[in-house]
Amino acid sequence: MANKFYITTPIYYVNASPHIGHSYTCIAADSLARHYRQKLGENDVWFLTGSDEHGQKIQKAADEAKLSPQEFVDKVVMQFKGLWGKLDISNNDFIRTTEARHIKTVQKVLEILHEKGDIYQDKYEGWYCTPCETFWMELQLKDGKCPDCGRSVEKISETNYFFKLKKYQEWLVKYIKDNPNFIRPETRRNEVLSFLALNELADLCISRPSERLGWGIPLPFSPEHVTYVWFDALVNYISAVGSFDAKGKYSSPWWGPDVNILHLIGKDILRQHAIYWPIILHALDIELPKEMTIFAHGWWLIADAKMSKSKGNVVSPLAMVDKFGIDTYRYFLLRDVPFGMDGNFSEDAIIKRFNGDLANDLGNLVYRTLTMIEKYYQGNIPDININNIHAGRAKDIIEKMKLLPNKNGPLLCAGFDFNFGAVLENIWGLINSANKYVEETKPWNLAKENKTEELKQFIRLLVEVIREVAGAITPFMPRTAESIKEQLGSDKIKKGAPLFPRIDAKKSNA
Ligand code: MSP
Repeated sequence: MANKFYITTPIYYVNASPHIGHSYTCIAADSLARHYRQKLGENDVWFLTGSDEHGQKIQKAADEAKLSPQEFVDKVVMQFKGLWGKLDISNNDFIRTTEARHIKTVQKVLEILHEKGDIYQDKYEGWYCTPCETFWMELQLKDGKCPDCGRSVEKISETNYFFKLKKYQEWLVKYIKDNPNFIRPETRRNEVLSFLALNELADLCISRPSERLGWGIPLPFSPEHVTYVWFDALVNYISAVGSFDAKGKYSSPWWGPDVNILHLIGKDILRQHAIYWPIILHALDIELPKEMTIFAHGWWLIADAKMSKSKGNVVSPLAMVDKFGIDTYRYFLLRDVPFGMDGNFSEDAIIKRFNGDLANDLGNLVYRTLTMIEKYYQGNIPDININNIHAGRAKDIIEKMKLLPNKNGPLLCAGFDFNFGAVLENIWGLINSANKYVEETKPWNLAKENKTEELKQFIRLLVEVIREVAGAITPFMPRTAESIKEQLGSDKIKKGAPLFPRIDAKKSNA
């Protein structure tokens, strides 16, 4: 088991404001980073996110905004950084591809591969889809349009530089087969393997003539060309955490056999990550650590359709957070859809989770427990040992509580597909048992019948459950965990307002 954890999100295109899809990857990555910090130690986790700032898409958006590309990205990147702050994203670093440290590394990478003969010049003739920044051959087009996005393509003929992907195809297939956790979930792994079995890889065009596109990193060996934005972007994962020495050897505290690397991405950018990226690393003689995973999550849809500006159905994470609160939003994204699958996003679905899991289950357990401590013990937590409780439901709860960390621990790793849903379900299993316990025990009767010892034990057990729950939800809902810990205190409670006051669905939609 590696003792360090390096986790990344895609670096986001800063051509428009962030939407819920972007926030999903960051919230999932943040939860994993927090979980691994608990497990391995604060200093043994590195969480990187950032922004992808070059390329035609950005140039076009800047032109439309009548700003220079640099001015434009400087502006939009603030929105992303602001959102991550607001969502409690605990990234250790934020890389921008316009930073000197990144540009230097990309140029070094190009130089090494060029000298090695893995990058060569050739004439390119074919079709180009600007929004996707992808070249297509005539026979790949669908009805004369881009096979990925369906938009128009333009005919292009120019001299460019190419990276020898084809040369490494066999190596890659073997690598993927030998490392079952390299691409997760399994469906994505199979998708990549069958793509590689059915297609011979074409070498990758990694340049654009600067006269057509000025906004990019110049090739060190050809100033008339800039680097293809995907080639530039992928390198962020190494440029942010290390550097090459004069001999072309890469070193980083976050890359090596003792590091577990996780690139969290959306399913739409699987091919670049599962094919280009390992080949680039291998060509650079950078060893892929034994525990390295590319995990592709699914998409958030609106009524089964893709979000798009033209449909006008793009949901802003800020609006959701303002309406429902940060932790509700985080909980919903992690809980409502199995990680890896697509899901439908709707406010009704959030409200359902909120009123059920958060208000009725967790909020109620905390509130009723604090109320009883106030009522029966003037706010002092009963000082009593619960280890010798032997009664039925209470014993089950103690058992469940003890088992929870062992049950949940392994679920947040590659082999289990970072199963947030199952982890939260297990925590809620404990919460629900505790709520049932309250209903069955009828503490008001214990009080009436002067069963003081039983009442103390009963309340103390609820306190222990809540403490366990607060610890367990910390990576996913850090604020709620903090607020529970504050309200509960160590021996005297500080009861605040209910954590999740129920939402009236009708009013909320009005
Ligand atoms: N810049 C590239 C990534 C380069 S990484 C070296 C890029 N950027 S992006 O801003 O377009 O998308 C970033 C991520 O957001 C992708 O992983 C994408 O899957 C994710 N999402 C975008 N829309 C999404 C949804 N509707 N739902 C979930 N995630 C989706 O691609």
